[in-house]
Amino acid sequence: MWGYPADGPELAQACRAWGVPLVEDAAQAHGTTLFGRYVGTHGAIGTFSTHARKLICTGEGGFCLTDDPALADRLRPLRNLGKPPSGGEFGTGFGLNYKLPALAAALGRVQLSRLNSRLARRSLILEKLTAMASEISGLEPFPISRGRDRVQCAALPLPAPVPDAGTRPLHTDPAVP
Ligand SMILES: Cc1ncc(COP(=O)(O)O)c(C=O)c1O
Repeated sequence: MWGYPADGPELAQACRAWGVPLVEDAAQAHGTTLFGRYVGTHGAIGTFSTHARKLICTGEGGFCLTDDPALADRLRPLRNLGKPPSGGEFGTGFGLNYKLPALAAALGRVQLSRLNSRLARRSLILEKLTAMASEISGLEPFPISRGRDRVQCAALPLPAPVPDAGTRPLHTDPAVP
């Protein structure tokens, strides 16, 4: 999430042991790597969002990654009204209309070619902000652990809540059951 990926390799290992296919939610993790491997490629399927706030943006939409041709053949009808990969006028199985319009996909593909340079720029900005934040007392950048070497954004946890700020966590509010 936001460049802090879950432990893909460990999850993949556990899923293999349990015989459960791993579907990674990599909605925010375009180009993020974990121990040098792209997030979204640890399991059977990686899913990505290309919503307006994402690093690759097509307005709305997304895509799935898999290196398994049989799984890809099962995915295609799901986003195209149940029509088999070979096409045809009518659906033959379950499916909805989740197709990404060609124009939107073209936008995404152009941005894909700039992904590396955008990530590199983000890392540079992150380094600068981290250095600046370290000079502000009470602000500590969220640590980026080993292996999470290409992140897209960083959190700055604030110190303990400021008293009298007029807000408090909902779970501490007596009015909330
Ligand atoms: C982790 C995660 N999963 C899923 C989604 C949903 O993506 P979409 O808005 O493309 O449906 C988001 C959106 O921000 C997300 O952050």
